[in-house]
Amino acid sequence: MKEQNKIREQFPILNQKINGYNLVYFDNGATSQKPLSVIESISDYYKNSNSNIHRGVHTLSRKATELFEQARKTLAQHFNVNNDQQLIFTAGTTDSINMVAQGLAKNYLQTGDEIILSTYEHHSNILPWQLWAEANGGKLKVIPLLEDQTIDYAAIPALISAKTKLIAITHVSNTLGLITDLEKIKTIAQKNNIPILVDGAQSAPHMPIDLQKLNVDFFVCSAHKMYGPTGIGLLYLSEKWLKELSTSKPGGGTIKTVTFEKTEYAEGALRFEPGTPNISGAIGFAAAIDFMNSVGTQTIFDHEHELVQYAQKKMSEIPEVIIYGKSDHKAGVISFNIKEQHPFDVGTLLDKYGIAVRTGHHCTQPLMHCLNVQGTVRISFAIYNTKEEIDIFIEKLVKVIKMLN
Ligand code: ALA
Repeated sequence: MKEQNKIREQFPILNQKINGYNLVYFDNGATSQKPLSVIESISDYYKNSNSNIHRGVHTLSRKATELFEQARKTLAQHFNVNNDQQLIFTAGTTDSINMVAQGLAKNYLQTGDEIILSTYEHHSNILPWQLWAEANGGKLKVIPLLEDQTIDYAAIPALISAKTKLIAITHVSNTLGLITDLEKIKTIAQKNNIPILVDGAQSAPHMPIDLQKLNVDFFVCSAHKMYGPTGIGLLYLSEKWLKELSTSKPGGGTIKTVTFEKTEYAEGALRFEPGTPNISGAIGFAAAIDFMNSVGTQTIFDHEHELVQYAQKKMSEIPEVIIYGKSDHKAGVISFNIKEQHPFDVGTLLDKYGIAVRTGHHCTQPLMHCLNVQGTVRISFAIYNTKEEIDIFIEKLVKVIKMLN
């Protein structure tokens, strides 16, 4: 496809050989590659505009501040958020969830409260809540999965009690690619007046996200899975929580006035962005969003969906392959195992052919327990991946199976 070539040309890293073979990069769930526009936006910033922000009256400082705040506006437009102050730059999804957990612990969560999670959750959406629960006599309640590894929505009402204070749930399982039906979650949550945190780390890179339409309390994601740089992410707060969430990271830049007796904090996003932020990261994040929009987020979803269907079909024809969470309704991720083989061996041998996949528990050990496996092999797609790459992967996978048997 001609357009596909144009997209691939923007990713110089893809044009290399690994172990003598053309690189096939199928580890986008861990981190995506970056287009030239993102790489250049960061280098341009350091070449021409580097300065600290929100502090200086000099020209460079004003220029850097403008670029940083413009980046916030780009994100607000992309996610359809009217008030850009609802978007906080953080270090990434993990940082965002920790900020919410620590903030809620200060003035919202009470001793003995309960939080509902799903079996899919990444460790980063378990550990902050578990730490809080251990210290406060709290309880984590877990939504089970059905036989087909989709969420058992019917089981949720029985998990809810007067003490339920939050539902924290992933939008797309990083391991299985299955998409959570947030409308179902919202119906139950709203009926019981329970706020929702959505972990969008694996949805924001793959599909259109309209935060007004989604209408949840917290939404978090990471730039580096969305063609952007590492070390920068997003915390979206609803208008209510923008006012009510306590800050867990006070520091320079978050305040209006300080005396030794009392501090008056700033309003809006700055209240949550202490110290010198990741300025180049925010600029790179905005460039990544521009890249995604130049392709179109629906086009990205449709392309990856086609790749998933194509790969799942071909993989299903190989008798030794077990696919987990096989479904038509999923983002660009497939987890599988080869019967009686360790995922590490499969991943290591695929690497010998230049194919990058992730192996192991994918930071979802509870899900692994539920699937009754130690780990899986995961392939995950991005807009630059092709059916030809899937053909290469299938051919080499068959060779790997022969080698291991
Ligand atoms: N959370 C990332 C993944 O799923 C690192 O691979």
